[in-house]
Amino acid sequence: MINLSNFSSIFIANWKLNGNIEFIDQYYQKLSINSEKCIVICSPNIFLSRLISNPNNLFKGAQDVSTYNQGAFTGEVSAHMLSEENIKFCLVGHSERRQHFNEENSSIKQKAINLIENKIIPVICVGETLEAKENKLTKTVLKKQISNCLPETANFQNTIIAYEPIWAIGTGLTPTFEEIEEVHSYIKNLNPKFNQIKVLYGGSVKSSNSAKINSLSNVDGCLVGGASLEVDDFNLIIS
Ligand code: 13P
Repeated sequence: MINLSNFSSIFIANWKLNGNIEFIDQYYQKLSINSEKCIVICSPNIFLSRLISNPNNLFKGAQDVSTYNQGAFTGEVSAHMLSEENIKFCLVGHSERRQHFNEENSSIKQKAINLIENKIIPVICVGETLEAKENKLTKTVLKKQISNCLPETANFQNTIIAYEPIWAIGTGLTPTFEEIEEVHSYIKNLNPKFNQIKVLYGGSVKSSNSAKINSLSNVDGCLVGGASLEVDDFNLIIS
């Protein structure tokens, strides 16, 4: 498993359902990585074998994994299959999967268990809706998601949490810097086991706000959607 403490920060590109072969070739020609930072590219599964990695700071990530390890489950990809493809990170519980594919905390937890067993770091995504935020329920929602999604085996060395407020994803809206700092601090203090856990921020991260967000003391990096599709923008974000 990757030693997360080697890195000053972690930046994950979530391409979602985007990209093609030509895009990938051009992307890696222009991608400019820096040794202290951990860079992860999460592509659709069909492209995982085309992603480029190095042993030090550039890794391949998946966007989801099966709850099952093997058997008659058409269309699924197991954690072991991902590990054979040299995948080191995998998103789980992204709000788009919770929303469009009815993914629940219990299956997210099972996915994280399977990934940890296969030495892949689960990036467990949590976040509140706008309605929950307006009703001041952000911390209640996050506490429930984290306590129900993180397996007993999860710790700061084998698991990452990504805080992605649902209302900030793809909208251009973000919480204030104070709100991000407060939520990240809350997550790290939920359980003594999580004090050192890496917590990434995601939701409308761009080259114009990433430096400030990443400078917050409890932010360990960013999970980037739309802006990660423009390699020039992503280069600025990770620079
Ligand atoms: P955007 O950066 O496009 O808001 O998406 C965030 C996200 O969902 C990353 O997983």
